Amino acid sequence: MPQTTPQQPRKPFNRGHCFLVLISIIVVLGLVALFTWLALRPKKPVYSIESGSLSDFNLNDIHLNSTFYFTIRTHNPNHRVSIYYDAINSSVTHHNQSIAFSTIPRFFHRRRNVTDLTPKFVARDVALSHANAADLKQESRTGQVELEVHVTARIRFKAGVFKSRHRTLKVVCVPRLVAVDNIVAPKSKIIFK
Ligand SMILES: *[C@@H]1O[C@H](CO)[C@@H](O)[C@H](O)[C@H]1NC(C)=O
Ligand SMILES: *[C@@H]1O[C@H](CO)[C@@H](O)[C@H](O)[C@H]1NC(C)=O
Ligand SMILES: *[C@@H]1O[C@H](CO)[C@@H](O)[C@H](O)[C@H]1NC(C)=O
Ligand SMILES: *[C@@H]1O[C@H](CO)[C@@H](O)[C@H](O)[C@H]1NC(C)=O
Repeated sequence: MPQTTPQQPRKPFNRGHCFLVLISIIVVLGLVALFTWLALRPKKPVYSIESGSLSDFNLNDIHLNSTFYFTIRTHNPNHRVSIYYDAINSSVTHHNQSIAFSTIPRFFHRRRNVTDLTPKFVARDVALSHANAADLKQESRTGQVELEVHVTARIRFKAGVFKSRHRTLKVVCVPRLVAVDNIVAPKSKIIFK
C-alpha cells in the first residue's frame, strides 16, 4: 500500500484513503440508484372519458333519481412498469356535489395496455342543494347535463420483481354530458401523490 506510513505498519489504509473509498462507494451506489430510477421512473397513467349516458332521470324538487354509465379509458404508457390497482373508488359529482358512488373491481394494469373501466352509478333520492337542483333542472331542459367523474385508487408500481409502496392516484374528468349519450370535450386532470 503506497500510502502506509512506517509508524502504522499493520494498518492497510490511512484515514484519508478510507474516506475516499467510502465516498467512491457512495457515489457509485448513488449513480446506480439514479440511473435505475431514470430508467424505470413511472409515468402517470392517462385517463379519458370515452362515453357516458344516463337513464331514468327524474328530478323532483331537490331529489334526484338517475343511473349513470361511463366508459373510463385508462392507458398505462410505461414500457417497463405495470400497475397494481388494489382498490378503486369512483364518484359522479354535479358542481362539486357528490351524487353517486361506485366501486370498480381491482385489476392489474400491464405495461402499455389500454383498459376500459365501465362503472355504473346509481343515484337514489339524492338531496341536492337548492342551487344545484335548479341548475341541473335548467341543464336537463337544454339537454346538456354537466357532470364530473372522479377516480381515487390505491396503486403500486411493479418493475420486474420490484414493487413500490402504495400510492394514491386521483383523477378528475370534467366532461359535458350531451343529450343522453354523448360527451363533448372530455378533459381530465390527474393528481398523483
Ligand atoms: C326515487 O326512487 C324512490 C324509490 O326507489 C322513490 O321512492 C322516490 O320517490 C324517487 N324519487 C324521485 C325524485 O323520483
Ligand atoms: C369545484 O371546486 C373547484 C375546486 O375546489 C373549483 O375550482 C370549481 O370552481 C368548483 N366548481 C363549481 C361548479 O362550483
Ligand atoms: C389489456 O389487458 C387486458 C387484460 O389483460 C386485455 O384483455 C386487453 O386485451 C389488453 N388491451 C390491450 C390494448 O393490450
Ligand atoms: C373507497 O371507499 C371506501 C368507503 O368509503 C373507503 O373505505 C376506501 O378507503 C376507499 N378507497 C379508496 C382507494 O379511496
